[in-house]
Amino acid sequence: MQIPEHQIEEIRSSTDIVDLISGFVQLRKRGRNFIGLCPFHNEKTPSFTVSPEKQIYHCFGCHAGGNSFKFLMEYKNISFVESVQELAENLGIKLEENSAPNTEEKSEFEELYEINVIAAKYFSNNLLKSTGGEIARNYFKDRKIKTKTNTTFGLGYALPEWDSLLHHLTESKVNLQKAKDIGLIDEKDKGGFYDKYRGRTIFPIFSPNGRVIGFGGRVMNKEEKTAKYINSPESKIYSKRKTLYGLFHSKDEVRRLDKAILVEGYMDVISLSQSGVKNVVASSGTALTEEQVLLLSRFTKNIVVNFDSDLAGQKAATRSIEVLLKNGFDVKLISLPNGEDPDSYINKFGTEEFNKQVENAKDFLEFQTEQFYNAGVFDDSKKSAEAIRELVKYVALIEDELKRNILIKTISTKFQLREKLLEKELDSVLELNKKKDSKVEFRNEKKNAKSIEVLQGDTESNSSFQFEKELIKLMLEGSEEIIENILDYIHPDDFKNKTFNQIATTIEKCYQKNDITTSAIVGSILDEATKTTALSLTLGEEIISDKWNKKKDDVDKIGLNHLQKTKDIVRKYRLLMIDSQIKSNDHKMVVAENENEEMKLLRENMELTLQRKMILDGEGNSDLI
Ligand code: UTP
Ligand code: MN
Repeated sequence: MQIPEHQIEEIRSSTDIVDLISGFVQLRKRGRNFIGLCPFHNEKTPSFTVSPEKQIYHCFGCHAGGNSFKFLMEYKNISFVESVQELAENLGIKLEENSAPNTEEKSEFEELYEINVIAAKYFSNNLLKSTGGEIARNYFKDRKIKTKTNTTFGLGYALPEWDSLLHHLTESKVNLQKAKDIGLIDEKDKGGFYDKYRGRTIFPIFSPNGRVIGFGGRVMNKEEKTAKYINSPESKIYSKRKTLYGLFHSKDEVRRLDKAILVEGYMDVISLSQSGVKNVVASSGTALTEEQVLLLSRFTKNIVVNFDSDLAGQKAATRSIEVLLKNGFDVKLISLPNGEDPDSYINKFGTEEFNKQVENAKDFLEFQTEQFYNAGVFDDSKKSAEAIRELVKYVALIEDELKRNILIKTISTKFQLREKLLEKELDSVLELNKKKDSKVEFRNEKKNAKSIEVLQGDTESNSSFQFEKELIKLMLEGSEEIIENILDYIHPDDFKNKTFNQIATTIEKCYQKNDITTSAIVGSILDEATKTTALSLTLGEEIISDKWNKKKDDVDKIGLNHLQKTKDIVRKYRLLMIDSQIKSNDHKMVVAENENEEMKLLRENMELTLQRKMILDGEGNSDLI
């Protein structure tokens, strides 16, 4: 169903987010915002913030956040359309059915999801009911997977023919080119299409909200020489880096227990879940990516990594530790006995034994030390020094100073090394990290906006980073005048930092559509990590509006102060840009090949100097810093 854009806007602007969320979460007023215990993760002190002015919510603990629609989607596990329908009903607004798509982009997403649903139903039907599916039914039975589990995870079977899905898609009037784009079928050289998945068991991959975004297909016969799994390619709706297999099924349990178990494979997730260990997700055979970690951090910050016991699995575990520590996770690891993976282990030894493994999981330091021991590193004094340095490097990734100190003590005791020595090593690693990227510096400065740690790019100039951050914060206040004042002088592409660039681009789009409320802007940011950054910025500790609010309560005055501040920052930012351009031209002049080039640069610098003077003379007398 397509709901016309103007109705979505009407519903968003008529819903009060505080009223809405109050129905589910106890909120109390603090300053201009409301706070409460986050419904999306376990917490004892409230970090869940709702802003009545901006009509958005954000949890500083787990990074959940968005507008009213997003809240309902997350809280009730429903789709966007369902959330719009529910709010419309609350408001007594009758939805117009609209056959014309609201935007091309959106309708294409919908179409791709629909194709996947058609395929998923077809595969599932093959497994559960078709005669040809007998072999797959037996396969799952042999692997101790119950019929009910097949249904829960939507498992299926692709018949061995080259065109059985193709026929079904054609009958269902699916756009075959699009089915090809998402990797269900492929095109023959001579024209025409054929099924990509043949004679394989099928594992649909779900988004956190339960949409089918892709498939994995496993060979049933080990002797076959083809790849064990065929997976969906990257597409408009599927990105492997951003997906955690099983999250849709496990997220409630992950929140409830405030802990996730990370495994490698589809079968591990399914087996554990069937045996009652439901807080489990899979990275799908690789080390965790930063995107996956951020996604998971919306549900918990405690993880038990349980990869396969083979070398590849242990290596992937080691690589995952780093990105997890960097993102503030408490990391524990399980090493299963040789040859076992979580699926085989729980089938052999049972749920109780598996739970014992989880309880006795090692912390990352123990785990890593053991890895080194097993590799014989400590037999060699040079290698052991390197290994200990390696351990200190891990410790340096942890933000919490207290935790760092405790770990340094642990290492000191373990290897009988002077604590002072290790502290010195730690300090030099910390210093190096600081220099290496401005992210760390920024993180220490602003604890609350954790998501900003992942901001990319902009390592060369920390000051432009700070300006850009302020500009984005101002634009997120949702005032047309402020946005105009900024966009008049600064193009979204001028933002060097990738994330800020994305946010500025979205703001410009919203501005062109005449809908610049904070909730509309936040709602239009598609990338989850970018959205989290925007939310952190606009609801962060140093909310600009709060600062002004302390001085004056008059709304106009607040607006005016914002505007003054905007003009001031824009002016300074432009000066900064001009200065850096002049500097870079100076450098170029030194190495210029010929006089012509030199003259050109000189002229450009004169022009820039003039511009600089005009800015300084013109709007120069702002009393704000
Ligand atoms: P495994 O080989 O451990 O597979 O790869 P598995 O899921 O545990 O399956 P069983 O128990 O052997 O049947 C772990 C994960 O790595 C990815 C899949 O996501 C798989 O679940 N993988 C593996 C691939 O994508 N392609 C491959 O060829 C192999
Ligand atoms: Mn496995």
